[in-house]
Amino acid sequence: VKDGFDSFMDKEIHDQPKAVADTLLGRTDATGALVLDELRIPESTLRSIDKIIVIACGTAAYSGHVAKYAIEHWCRIPVEVELAHEFRYRDPILTARTLVVAISQSGETMDTLMAVRHAREQGASVLAIVNTNGSTIPRESDAVLYTHAGPEVAVASTKAFLAQITACYLLGLYLAQLRGTKFADELREILHELQALPDKIQHVLDGEAAVREVAQAMKDEPSFLFLGRHVGYPVALEGALKLKEIAYIHAEGFAAGELKHGPIALVDEGQPVFVIAPSPRGRDQLHHKVVSNIQEVRARGARTLVIAEEGDEAVAPYADIVFRVPQTPTLLSPLVAVVPLQIFASELAKAKGLDVDQPRNLAKSVTVE
Ligand code: F6R
Repeated sequence: VKDGFDSFMDKEIHDQPKAVADTLLGRTDATGALVLDELRIPESTLRSIDKIIVIACGTAAYSGHVAKYAIEHWCRIPVEVELAHEFRYRDPILTARTLVVAISQSGETMDTLMAVRHAREQGASVLAIVNTNGSTIPRESDAVLYTHAGPEVAVASTKAFLAQITACYLLGLYLAQLRGTKFADELREILHELQALPDKIQHVLDGEAAVREVAQAMKDEPSFLFLGRHVGYPVALEGALKLKEIAYIHAEGFAAGELKHGPIALVDEGQPVFVIAPSPRGRDQLHHKVVSNIQEVRARGARTLVIAEEGDEAVAPYADIVFRVPQTPTLLSPLVAVVPLQIFASELAKAKGLDVDQPRNLAKSVTVE
């Protein structure tokens, strides 16, 4: 079942090119336009949406963070992302023009299910993005967009996360197509880039030995920090969560811009800091700002582990270690940038002799509130 891998988590990390490819499969027609037949929400409703609220927990919520950047950019619809258990116990402002997107691998997470009920009671339409066929959340939602990651066994989510992000991109591109906020050829270009992602993920996996070697050497570190901006921020949060979950190491993810507002006080001689560097080919100041952040922590003694694009030489002088990922448009880059962090956590947990697939105190699906 583990296909020769040491753990289900390792197997599932290696399943990721297929998880993304399968989630994209069959969702375009002969002209290259997106067809999401399963969205049984009427097109007129989808056209009139004036707000999207993503509700989810844990890793699934981080996929929602990525969705916010992409959907707002492509569709010009405001997107809020909220932990389902927080949403559930407040008085959210929902109307018939609000689309609530509930993201869940298992489809059984009680916190998310309760939030779905809460949203529907107040008249919002709920679209579920779920991996498990026939589970409860899709049954209680207005429509479902399935991720096709296949069954995920390891408690720590990996391939489901990449499939969730992929499904969010499809939703965003579909809404942009429907609402005409992007030209058809632009949409086709982004879709084309997205279709190149499975091979790029495979390329990162092919280079995993270097990541594993560093993880083994760092197995006794007591704490790690993770920094990112824009879509690199949810990647940082996810990298930290993986390390906490399976390696039981204190790890915190920050928006890199927050550093000087507090967290930089944590940085001391030898503190390992992962930094997710955005593409230097992006149009804005993003890359430049992140390079400054790397310099800032390095100047205070941090050991910097930088995830950077191939060909990005600007990070090299400030990075103790660089993990390379293929060149990818910024909005799509989480699909490659998170992979070295998953491998790192898995290898580090293994080096500590821990059960990678069954971390203490955690269950695969959290069916109690
Ligand atoms: C992290 C992890 C959890 C789940 C969360 C939501 O590796 O597995 O944070 O992502 O419990 O679970 P689902 O997606 O099943 O609703």
